Amino acid sequence: MSLRGVSFVFLSVALRLSAQQALQIPKTWDEEMLHEWATPIAALSVRPGHFSAKEYYASPVDNYRSYPVYAAGREPAGYFERLRKAKPEPLIQPAGLKTKAEWIAAGKRVFEESDIGSFRRYEADIIEEFHLAKSARLARLTPRKDGTIPGARWVVTDRGLALGAENCTQCHRRALPDGGVLDGPGMSDTAAFFVTGMIATVPGLSAVPLPGDSSTTGTWRSFAVPWLPGDIHEQIKTMDGPALGRVFLASIGPDLTPRWSGSIFYPAKIPDLIALKGQKYIDATATHKLRGTGDIMRYAALVSYADISDFGTHRLLTDAQRKIPFHLPDEALYAMALYVESLEAPANPNPFDARAAAGKKIFERDCSACHTPPFYTSGKLTLAEGFTPSPALLREYDVLPVSVRTDASLAMKTRKGTGFYKIPSLRGVWYRGRYLHDGAVTSLEEMFNPARLDPAFVPSGFKSIDTHRAVPGHEFGLRLPAADRANLIVFLKTL
Ligand code: HEC
Ligand code: HEC
Repeated sequence: MSLRGVSFVFLSVALRLSAQQALQIPKTWDEEMLHEWATPIAALSVRPGHFSAKEYYASPVDNYRSYPVYAAGREPAGYFERLRKAKPEPLIQPAGLKTKAEWIAAGKRVFEESDIGSFRRYEADIIEEFHLAKSARLARLTPRKDGTIPGARWVVTDRGLALGAENCTQCHRRALPDGGVLDGPGMSDTAAFFVTGMIATVPGLSAVPLPGDSSTTGTWRSFAVPWLPGDIHEQIKTMDGPALGRVFLASIGPDLTPRWSGSIFYPAKIPDLIALKGQKYIDATATHKLRGTGDIMRYAALVSYADISDFGTHRLLTDAQRKIPFHLPDEALYAMALYVESLEAPANPNPFDARAAAGKKIFERDCSACHTPPFYTSGKLTLAEGFTPSPALLREYDVLPVSVRTDASLAMKTRKGTGFYKIPSLRGVWYRGRYLHDGAVTSLEEMFNPARLDPAFVPSGFKSIDTHRAVPGHEFGLRLPAADRANLIVFLKTL
């Protein structure tokens, strides 16, 4: 064989190998990867547990496309009748996918069409109600510009037509004023969240059925921290409906919904998925590591149907509840994770002018050690006030061992209580709707207003209804002369 022939063979083998490697689909529920994925709970010094790979893959595969639900007068002719007669179509068909771009396009569909499987309803009366939004509660909703009802989906399943609830897009999709949508940042209104509440019969904030639970017990189970003396969530058991409703409502708003294992008293805002780049951990309190695409797949599975909720000796679910109802194909989660990784911020309309240049100088002096370009985060963790990590934890995690002294409750008093707060990326802060982990403030002007430290200050974002608190901590920039602070904000808006 000539030298040219050899190198040609070598090249084509190498190309084939690299094409295969590029599309090497991680296993979602991979024991080895799960082993040290979750961050230990600070108060317990143990990592939350997880279902075994055997349990995960023994559950049935769920792989259905879903379709929009239209408001009265907006449904295309014959649409609903066609769906009623339609055969189920798979959410993902991996056989046809070759290039990364094709996988990302397929992932966009998974992101927008995937519904929360445990919430599906098959009863004729609720399907009848949602078809053309017949009831008063649905007629009150403003449809999206394309005529669809936010939050609701039709799912054609092997059991027949179901009414389903949006999953990721319910929270991680923003409606734009021009009628378009932007995937990544939190939702701009709460309509989809409330529509989900109309559809789901699962109690509390669970994504899976909680057999045996009343609505109160399910809500308590969503947030309870049994190892914490004086856990604030214990009162959920004895609160009357209106009182619980008030606390719930305070934790819901644009860019804000409580999550399983989070809290209605100490919520985490909905993060912008575009700003995940440059991060090494997932969630405001770094509940899990972000080591690559596989961890985004794992996180999507965890929050949608696979959270065992074991914390050392504390088991939050009853034996009847410790079940994975179904799982998405690994290919669907892989495509969705690639789509999430591909999300980009919209074009920034703010010019980089002389004031921004002045602000940049201040930023480089006071901020960039933590909010380091190009992602405007060093990717490190900081400590919640009152948390002292063990030497072993400091070896395993990338920690800047200081505290910015923001409200410590989420990181210390919830099941997401790792003791850490991530340093958020500042890319796209100009369109972010809320700032700080609990979304207490809703503009950069408010974030850098020194008055927010005043105990009497009432924030425009999340405020706890019982215990008034100002917005403490992260005092960087607050003592700058007003003109410098203004320039700093001008610069931040260019990121
Ligand atoms: C009910 C609202 C809701 C739904 C539905 C939802 N999320 Fe989230 N998501 C949140 C909130 C709130 C957080 C922040 C949690 C925290 O910080 O503790 C979050 C965090 C995340 C993160 C971590 C981001 C970061 O910056 O650390 C990822 C990734 C993510 N979600 C992806 C998804 C995907 C994929 C889906 C669909 C499978 C989904 N989410 C469904 C509300 C939601
Ligand atoms: C010691 C590290 C550190 C320094 C220095 C620092 N920050 Fe931060 N920054 C953080 C952490 C940690 C958070 C998240 C705190 C929380 O949510 O509780 C944060 C949050 C923010 C946020 C809110 C982002 C969001 O989406 O919630 C903005 C904006 C911000 N910082 C800007 C700045 C600016 C401007 C400076 C300099 C004047 C600065 N930071 C200096 C660590 C730092």
